[in-house]
Amino acid sequence: MAKKSNAGAAAPRSTVAIHIGISDKDRGAIAGGLSRLLADTYTLYLTTHNFHWNVSGPMFNSLHAMFMAQYTELWNAVDPIAERIRSLGHVAPGSYAQFGQLSSLKDAPATPPKAMEMVRILMEGHEAVARTARSIFPLADKASDEPTADLLTQRLTVHEQTAWMLRSLLEE
Ligand SMILES: [Fe+2]
Repeated sequence: MAKKSNAGAAAPRSTVAIHIGISDKDRGAIAGGLSRLLADTYTLYLTTHNFHWNVSGPMFNSLHAMFMAQYTELWNAVDPIAERIRSLGHVAPGSYAQFGQLSSLKDAPATPPKAMEMVRILMEGHEAVARTARSIFPLADKASDEPTADLLTQRLTVHEQTAWMLRSLLEE
């Protein structure tokens, strides 16, 4: 019998009871939020790496290098997010199908845009990930889930700073 997709909500995994002081319901809600953050972060990682490969024009050198620094940071960020989901007793999504369903970001365009359009897409991507991270805070606060709140704070700092840097490139 075909299994139902668990892409929309975090599926409980552990067969051993978890007693960390956060209810099953709250762990499920937080893991669901973190699954959306993971999907957003992975999607933005892939788009940034794509643009590192495909950027062209007079700003090639600086954008190629800047996109590399950004995709490396995003790549390193997905692991702590996924492992927090696991610590909460849920399955971390990790397929293109699940990420496509969960992500608030569009997939990278099939045809490479012009360099400054890449910068605009990435700026909007960082803003979108920041909105997703911020939306999880009330759940973490309510459950006194400090490790998740700490992770969200770190991610928000990076996404808002990177959005500012990209936004600055777009200003006249
Ligand atoms: Fe490279």
